[in-house]
Amino acid sequence: MFRSITVSEIKRLTPQSVAISFSIPDELRKEFSYLPGQYITIKADVNGQKANRAYSLCSSPYSGEAHTIGVKQTDNGLVSTYLNNELLVGDSIEIMKPMGNFTVNIQQEHARRIVLIGGGSGITPLLSIAKSLLLKEPQSTITLIYGNRDEHSIMFFDELDELSLRYPAFTIINVLEEGEALHKGRLDNATLSTLLAPFASDEHAEFYICGPSPVMANAESVLEHHHITKERIHREFFTAPLSIDEEPVEAHETSEKNISVKLYGRSYEITVNPGETILDAGIRQQLDPPYACQIAACCTCRAKLQSGKVHMDSREALTDDEIEEGYILTCQAHPLTDDVLVDYDG
Ligand code: FES
Repeated sequence: MFRSITVSEIKRLTPQSVAISFSIPDELRKEFSYLPGQYITIKADVNGQKANRAYSLCSSPYSGEAHTIGVKQTDNGLVSTYLNNELLVGDSIEIMKPMGNFTVNIQQEHARRIVLIGGGSGITPLLSIAKSLLLKEPQSTITLIYGNRDEHSIMFFDELDELSLRYPAFTIINVLEEGEALHKGRLDNATLSTLLAPFASDEHAEFYICGPSPVMANAESVLEHHHITKERIHREFFTAPLSIDEEPVEAHETSEKNISVKLYGRSYEITVNPGETILDAGIRQQLDPPYACQIAACCTCRAKLQSGKVHMDSREALTDDEIEEGYILTCQAHPLTDDVLVDYDG
């Protein structure tokens, strides 16, 4: 459920990005508790145009700081442009509670190596994870490999610098396309092969990747080349993955289906047209279901399939455990039977 939350601070990070903090009222503290690396969903109304977007929290739940997101303005980005240029301190904005599986299981007694690989605004969940580990897992070492165009486009430059000075366990390797840098270029295969090689032999090291699709694909391919197991590679997509493993669409998907939906404690019967997703059908029939990316990258549209069968075009944001428990991404799901019951509250 979306809540109306007040903006408490807006800090300009770079000419193209801001950090936005929110004042969560006491009665919503529990609902808005979060794990490092999770995101919130914003429902924006920009001059009558409504849009939902997911933004990772860059704050740490353990530092006492306000819930904060980092937003980079993208070309023609309706919501990111609004958040960068028009939103003001004191404004209220619709926000849904933190969600997401891109997080870290912090244990005080762990002494491990964590490698964070980020490009551009992919730093936001990585910053939350780094700060949380430094505070709560003091024996672990954290290395951030961070790619940007130039020094002026590095989000959270001062905060990262300060963290690396305060915590010897935190090292930053900046990779810049332009200007003065120890490591020049992009986070391509060659650069990542060189930078990740020293960590590949550590069989307990964990890798967290967030950034544009090419950066994620390059990092994954280098880690796979070094035989790093899937369980030790954690990924957060901001954009659609380069290739999505699509199962064949069943032939009977092409007929209209009448399904049941539970949402915010109420039950509805809706019609899903041929080729339409359950989410799109819910939006069309004005149920106001939760969603953000609509490309299987966030998980905001997650619901439990209580009965019936669906086909999912992609399941990218769901963990194997969630699939096992019957969760689906409604932005990717097409009903195959009429007895489908989808429970957003489940
Ligand atoms: S809306 Fe993001 S996964 Fe469905």
